This record gives sequence, C-alpha cells and structure tokens, in this order.
Amino acid sequence: MIRKIAISAVSALTLFTGSAWAAGEAKTVDIPFSFEGPFGAFDEHQLQRGLQVFTEVCSACHGLKFLRIGALAEMGGPMLPEEQVKAYAKNLTVIDKETGEERTATPADRFPENNGAAAPDLSVMAKARAGFHGPYGLGINQFFRGIGGPEHIYSVLTGYEENPECAPDGIDGFYYNTGFANGAVPDTCKDEAGHPMIEGSWIAMPQPMSADQVTYADGTEASLENMSEDVSAFLMWASEPKMMVRKESGFKAVLLLGLLSVLLYLTNKRLWSGVKGKKKVA
Ligand code: HEC
Repeated sequence: MIRKIAISAVSALTLFTGSAWAAGEAKTVDIPFSFEGPFGAFDEHQLQRGLQVFTEVCSACHGLKFLRIGALAEMGGPMLPEEQVKAYAKNLTVIDKETGEERTATPADRFPENNGAAAPDLSVMAKARAGFHGPYGLGINQFFRGIGGPEHIYSVLTGYEENPECAPDGIDGFYYNTGFANGAVPDTCKDEAGHPMIEGSWIAMPQPMSADQVTYADGTEASLENMSEDVSAFLMWASEPKMMVRKESGFKAVLLLGLLSVLLYLTNKRLWSGVKGKKKVA
C-alpha cells in the first residue's frame, strides 16, 4: 500500500518537473537563509541592512506598495524603534487616498509605488518567483529547498556578466544576466529548436549595485554578495511580514494536536479496558 502511494507520488512529481524545466534555465544560487525551515527566523540585523539597501538603491526605481511602513517596528521584522520608523516615514512622499494629493508619509501608510514605469513592484516578488524547479533532480528541488524566491532575487542581483560569445554586442538597452531566465535571448544564442543555449537571458534592469554601494552601520562588509543577500532577505520579509507569527502558531497547533492524540489514546484504552477482557470469554 505504502509502496503504491510512493510510486504514484513520485510519478505525479515527475510530471510537474518536466513542465517546470521547459521554462528555461537560470543559475540560481542556494543561500542558507536564517528564515528557512519550520524553526527558521528572520535576523533583524540582516533585515535592517536589507532595508538600507532597498532605501538607498532599489527604491530609486521599485515600489513596495503593499508593505505598511509601520511594520518596520513590529516583532518578527527589522524591529526598528518607533521613533526611527516615524523618521523614516517622514522622508517618504505618498499620494493621499482621499485628497489625491502628495503628502509626507506616516507609519500608517504603505511604501510608495514604483518610480520607474518598467520596474515591477517588489512587495510580493520574493513569493512570485521560483528559483528552484521540480521536486528533485540535479540537486535542485523545491521539496528540500523551498521555492527559492529570495534565492532568485539574489541570483539576479549577482548574475550580471559580460555578453556571451554568441551575442557579443548584446541587446540595446538590456543587460546579460545569468540569474534571469525570463528575458530576451538573441537568435544567435538559440539552438535549431529555438531553445536558449546559454544560462539566463537579457534583463531591462541595469546592474543596480556593485561592492561598497552602501555603508553599513554595523560594520558588515558591503560586498555585492552581502548586500544582495540582505536585500533578498528583506524582500522575503516584505512579502510575508507575519511569517514568524505563522510558524509559531503552526508549531503550537502541532503541539496541541500531539497532546490531544495522547489524551485520546489514553481515554480510549481506559474506556475499553474492561470490554476487551470479556471478549475472550465469548
Ligand atoms: C534603474 C532602475 C532600477 C533599480 C535602481 C533597480 N531596479 Fe530592479 N528592475 C528594474 C527594471 C526596469 C526591471 C524589469 C526588468 C525586466 O523585466 O526585464 C527590474 C526588475 C527587477 C526584479 C524582477 C526580476 C524578475 O524575476 O522578474 C527584481 C527582483 C529586482 N528588479 C530587484 C531589484 C533590487 C533588489 C534592487 C536594488 C538592489 C533593484 N532591483 C534596483 C529597474 C531597477
């Protein structure tokens, strides 16, 4: 029975894997983020650094229109002091929903929308993209590593490279990126069947940062890798500011259900203890 279930599960998974690979491949770097796994938690210092990167670099083009500014002070997030969040809000301009006019933001407002028309909003980007495909195979799988949204963002930020040999001049206004599979690929980089022969593709976002783009207050080295990891973690939190609450209540539920099972087992045993003896006689 168990074998049958296992076999059908494996074949169902195989079917899904096939279609996922067909979408094209990007190089996704696996990062052991602190928030992974059932007991993982966001590192507030990393989120603070990620907020700094977002503010100083990404917000020039990208918005975070679903994230409430006040969430920056809440448990499970960057946990900035209230005063600092107020000061942060003061630096932002939002459009008042009632008057339709621009005004200074308050912690009750959401982050502003994007500035660059072509730059997508990043509020849920970490959940909208998959860095890993398929449940198994080639060591890359969602089953053990998760969907890989923050890994995808990290890989795009660190994936800019010189144009490959098949297209030395690249594409005007686009940038070759090994971590980004959904962009344009010149015909000279495709095989006869039209499949890309290179990793990644061309993206419309110019490389947004290089080493030492920001100066971290906590002394962390501002390498491209560190800044990319921090901002990816921050964007994961932004897409699910209540992740810690969810994990905690899930854990409590499992504990309670476990306790309930034990009690039910004991009750059951006790209730039937007399009955079982008599059965033998009959
Ligand atoms: C100069 C403007 C600009 C800046 C600065 C910028 N971006 Fe972008 N970004 C874009 C544009 C334009 C796109 C759309 C690219 C495309 O679809 O080809 C984009 C796309 C993205 C995507 C989507 C990739 C995907 O899978 O679709 C992510 C993630 C992203 N940017 C993250 C960031 C982060 C993080 C920063 C800050 C470190 C940043 N960007 C800074 C302009 C910018």
